[in-house]
Amino acid sequence: MSSRPGDVLAIYPGSFDPVTLGHEDIARRTLRLTDRLVIAVAETATQSKSPLFSVQERLTLLREVFQGDDRVECASFSGLLMDFARERDAHCIIRGLRAVSDFEYEFQMAQMNRELWPEVETVFLTPDAPLSFLSASLVREVAALGGDVSSFVSPRVLRALQAKLMG
Ligand code: PNS
Repeated sequence: MSSRPGDVLAIYPGSFDPVTLGHEDIARRTLRLTDRLVIAVAETATQSKSPLFSVQERLTLLREVFQGDDRVECASFSGLLMDFARERDAHCIIRGLRAVSDFEYEFQMAQMNRELWPEVETVFLTPDAPLSFLSASLVREVAALGGDVSSFVSPRVLRALQAKLMG
C-alpha cells in the first residue's frame, strides 16, 4: 500500500512484540484522522530488546488482529523508517505517547527522523486512559512470570503468548 491521490496515509511503526490493546487503540484512533494505515514492524529497533516473537510471528498476529479492515496493511521493514516512509509516500508517522517518561525518546526520534526526511510529520496520539500504563515489554514480563494478561491483549495474542511461553 502506498499513498493514493487525495488519501492521507499514516505509518505506525514499532516493535509490536506482541501487539497489545494499547497498540490497537492507537491504530483505531489514527483511522479517525487518516484514510489508510500501514502498521510497520521494524526489523531494527532503536532500543535493542531481546524479542519474544520473531518479526514474522509479530506480523502474523497483527494481520489477525486487524483482519477485516481494508484500510489497514501490516508490513515489516528493514533499514531506516524514513526510507520506508519515503518509499510508501506516507504523510505522517504515528507514535503513541503514554507518559512523560516516553517523551525524551520519542522527541529524539521525531527530530532525527525530520532531519532524515522532512516531508513527513510525526504525530503523537495518547491511548485510552486505562491503557496508558501498558507496554509490550510489561506484558511479556508478566506473562512469562505466570500473570494474567488477558485484559491487555486480544484473545489471539493471548493464545500465542501461552503457546510461546509454555513451549
Ligand atoms: O516500539 P518501539 O520499539 O519503541 O519502536 C521503535 C521504532 C521501531 C519506531 C524505531 O526503533 C525505528 O524507527 N526503527 C527503524 C530504524 C530507524 O529508522 N532508526 C532511526 C530512528 S531515529
